Amino acid sequence: MRRLKNILVTGGAGFIGSNFIRYLLKQNSDFSGSIVNLDALTYAGNPMNLADINNDGRYFFEHGDICDRLFTEAIFKKYDIDTVAHFAAESHVDRSIHGPEAFIKTNVFGTFTLLDIARNVWKNRTDVLFHHISTDEVYGSLGEEGMFTENTAYNPGSPYSASKAGSDHLAAAYYHTYRLPVTISNCSNNYGPYQFPEKLIPLMIMNITEGKPLPVYGDGKNVRDWLYVEDHNSAVWAIMRGGKPGERYNIGGENEWENIKLLNALINIVSEKTGLDPLKLRETITFIKDRPGHDRRYAIDCKKIKSGLGWRQSVSFEEGLRRTVDWYLGSKKWVESIRTGEYKKWIDLNYSRRN
Ligand code: NAD
Ligand code: TYD
Repeated sequence: MRRLKNILVTGGAGFIGSNFIRYLLKQNSDFSGSIVNLDALTYAGNPMNLADINNDGRYFFEHGDICDRLFTEAIFKKYDIDTVAHFAAESHVDRSIHGPEAFIKTNVFGTFTLLDIARNVWKNRTDVLFHHISTDEVYGSLGEEGMFTENTAYNPGSPYSASKAGSDHLAAAYYHTYRLPVTISNCSNNYGPYQFPEKLIPLMIMNITEGKPLPVYGDGKNVRDWLYVEDHNSAVWAIMRGGKPGERYNIGGENEWENIKLLNALINIVSEKTGLDPLKLRETITFIKDRPGHDRRYAIDCKKIKSGLGWRQSVSFEEGLRRTVDWYLGSKKWVESIRTGEYKKWIDLNYSRRN
């Protein structure tokens, strides 16, 4: 098992990154090092996601952009970073359709900048690791049959997935060319606490509780493979501890759902917990114009990480959805500050913006 001391988590104020930091500092007794969270605090980065972590002596926050080479290199040196868990990205497909540029900057150029800094600072060290977090969307879209394996050819369909594919290729190339110790993971759709309500599950929970229509793209029969965020993070940790440099690992829920069926399951849980009438809620489902280039189906074959690293999913979909709904219903301050945009004003007041 690799011993990791000073981990640089990029994008640690976002959904998965903040849950990863919480997972390491609160739930995982194997970890005894320190964590530096480098985050630009874009619309998706929210320090409130780490309110329960801020006073932990092993945790440090740095406000900055991974594209800023001088600043990021100084962070590597200041904290003697030996491990990178690279989560920072622009992550939403719809936003990438409306404005791809930020995706190319952060996902492609930002990843290149981080890799290149790691190569320069670490030189030929082998006791270090750069773990690159990516998505199953780089593989493109499946028909009714089949699954993505680690050998499936890349065929990204959206500006988001194309930019993530570019970053994956760069990470792999830095291993191949410079022998920088790199591992890559490609994960399916995550859900859970602290997810920004632009993604399907939190958007629907918030719209239900606010009495707004529930927008379903196209015929609602697109399929996604859903994984609870904690299970993604335990997989990332398993790779960081035991994964082989130069290897990629698929991570998935083995849990395929058509969007419309998922929405009906979610409505049942929310109505059970709030007393809202499920029949009335179903009437608010609104089929709208399809997303351009909408990938039809994703499904992940994750046998490699299961057999190679002994990882397993631990949270069933029913349980994960219940936990998620409970969290959104119980986190009124968080939800309200996002709904009103107050969180952004608070960030601008408390964090002088570097970029
Ligand atoms: P998110 O959008 O919730 O968070 C992204 C974080 O990165 C934010 O805190 C943001 O402020 C930060 N960031 C953005 N640009 C930055 C920059 N230039 N410099 C520094 N920080 C910057 O995203 P997420 O859903 O938590 O996804 C995290 C990672 O996991 C991404 O790489 C994404 O591609 C990957 N992934 C996500 C999913 C999913 O379902 N959400 C599934 C598989 C893989
Ligand atoms: P999303 O959460 O945006 O993740 P991704 O596009 O990365 O898979 O969307 C999940 C699925 O839900 C996808 O098929 C698009 C669909 N969707 C809707 O039908 N309505 C919505 O309002 C959103 C945000 C997504």
